[in-house]
Amino acid sequence: MTERTIDKRRIAESFGRAATTYDQAAAFQRTVGSNLLARLPKDYCPENTADLGCGTGYFTRELQRRYGRPVMGIDLAEGMLQFARNASPDCGPWVTADAEALPLRAGSQDLIFSSLALQWCSNLQIALSEAYNALRPGGYLAFNTLVEGSLGELRQAWERVDGFVHVNRFMPEAVLRELLARAGFSQCRCEIEQHVLHYAQLSELTRELKALGAHNVNPGRPGGLTGRARLRALTEAYEQFRGDKGLPATYQVAQIVLTKGAA
Ligand SMILES: C[S@@+](CC[C@H](N)C(=O)[O-])C[C@H]1O[C@@H](n2cnc3c(N)ncnc32)[C@H](O)[C@@H]1O
Repeated sequence: MTERTIDKRRIAESFGRAATTYDQAAAFQRTVGSNLLARLPKDYCPENTADLGCGTGYFTRELQRRYGRPVMGIDLAEGMLQFARNASPDCGPWVTADAEALPLRAGSQDLIFSSLALQWCSNLQIALSEAYNALRPGGYLAFNTLVEGSLGELRQAWERVDGFVHVNRFMPEAVLRELLARAGFSQCRCEIEQHVLHYAQLSELTRELKALGAHNVNPGRPGGLTGRARLRALTEAYEQFRGDKGLPATYQVAQIVLTKGAA
């Protein structure tokens, strides 16, 4: 089952609010997006490229520099796009849209790039189908997404505290691979990268997630404020994971390059 009830308005607001703090907190996001860029075919020279879930536009600019052509930045969050527009007036166009309802003409894109955005979709299958339709035959969809196990320490620590869903649910790798196999593309490369980040204190991790706008949007999250006692309990529960390098936060990143078969 891939369908999840996700409040898109909340996602857009949360990321929109984080637009001015995102770049300073996004070292991991840069690494992961750069690893995806490195997987693109070396000799490929796309004419029409879209950066889906472009955020502040870092990779939109990278793609434009690499290919020497305008790259379209697409995002759900108007706040992110406003920031990107101001930061990169030479880039764009910047388009507010949902990956699950792309306003792109069929067969109009040579490359759709998307870094750490599609895990926010309610239904990845729909996003894959939208991207497939927008690509011309021979075009590429290169995206990465988080799979199950990501932020597992935080999830387990919260479970000990109150049993609520405080951490976004990520798809199991096997389910992702099944979706990819059924998405109609002629070739698929999917590799899992594990990244373990370390923090001296739990508050550094939670502050970073807030600065990125990566708030939990799953149904089942508790309403209201996080009380002091619960935060203390969470901090204690997270300590079980402390190692030589500090408190770990694990991310399982699927790096995927899909090719649409020639007509
Ligand atoms: C973690 S940020 C990544 C931004 C950028 N790709 C980067 O690597 O720095 C995720 C972005 O995806 C956008 N996003 C989330 N759900 C989306 C959707 N359904 N359609 C389009 N964009 C979406 C968010 O608004 C946010 O800007």
